[in-house]
Amino acid sequence: MPVGADNLERLEEEARREIAAAESLQALTEVRARYLGKKGSVAGVLRSIGDLAGEERARVGQLANATKQRIEEAVGERRGALERSDRDRALDAERIDTTLPGAEEPPAGHLHPVTRVFRDMVEFFTSMGFSIEEGPEVETEYHCFEALNIPEVHPARDEQDTFYVEGGNVLRTHTSNVQIRAMTGRTPPFRFIAPGRVYRHDLSPRHYPMFHQIEGFLVDEDVSFGDLKGVLYAFGRHLMAREIELRFRANHFPFTEPSAEMDYACLLCDRQGCGVCSNSGWIEWGGCGMIHPQVLENCGIDSDRYQGFAFGMGVDRTALLRYGIPNIRLLFEGDLRVLGQV
Ligand code: DAH
Repeated sequence: MPVGADNLERLEEEARREIAAAESLQALTEVRARYLGKKGSVAGVLRSIGDLAGEERARVGQLANATKQRIEEAVGERRGALERSDRDRALDAERIDTTLPGAEEPPAGHLHPVTRVFRDMVEFFTSMGFSIEEGPEVETEYHCFEALNIPEVHPARDEQDTFYVEGGNVLRTHTSNVQIRAMTGRTPPFRFIAPGRVYRHDLSPRHYPMFHQIEGFLVDEDVSFGDLKGVLYAFGRHLMAREIELRFRANHFPFTEPSAEMDYACLLCDRQGCGVCSNSGWIEWGGCGMIHPQVLENCGIDSDRYQGFAFGMGVDRTALLRYGIPNIRLLFEGDLRVLGQV
């Protein structure tokens, strides 16, 4: 077969058509082999130029090589285009349409039972003119104990109750530290509440190493234990949204004199005795009393002129009672099966 420029041109045209028509990398590889492979058309042309005369052979040889190169380029371009469209297709397939509605509505959160109880308590006291005061959870022994008349030998300072931290400080074991912080440098009359976290080395169905207390205190001239009782009755009624019965038992707290522990009649059994009140009919609510004159003096307040009352109670127990939760741990373990019921 005579080989000439015409043949090569036709060959190139055909190759270009086939290259353009190759719809996949696989098809393109096959086209390339047909034209440029060892047994391909261009190789055939190069083989056959041996029959040509010297000058003609050189000319056609050059043309054939140039054709080969251009076909190679055309293959390269097509390969690039196919690779790009493959990638575009893959990206298209993986595209996430963020405007589509989700498979499931995300569950809406709500306030923790302890937060609800806290808010309720704070609402009550602010309506009675109390301001909110906060103190540090990592506290000096002075504010947590000494200034509250709790000497070094008092059982509350025993290491099995108190968490000691580096630098000689403690994790506050009660919110009473805020009494000292709020009263020091202030002139009565004033009334505060201090809601917050406290820590004790303790674990049982009714005790957790971290729990919540609310402290309240009021200092003025002519303050009596009767005022304290009035406030606590009103507070209990507000919390439980019904008439309540309180019981005051004489007790000793180093920072109040006189001191009392208070219980309220179990709301679940109406004093008949049940699991929640350990069959006693009463549930411990907290401690209270008239602020010890020495504590007032420790804060620079004239104890001849001023008196005050103070109380402190656990918050978590109120949440347990209100929501019928049997174990305090359930409040803090973040189990959505529990939290979702509230
Ligand atoms: N701080 C006491 C405790 O954690 C509770 C308490 C008792 C607070 C009597 C008071 C109070 O303010 O007057 O056990």
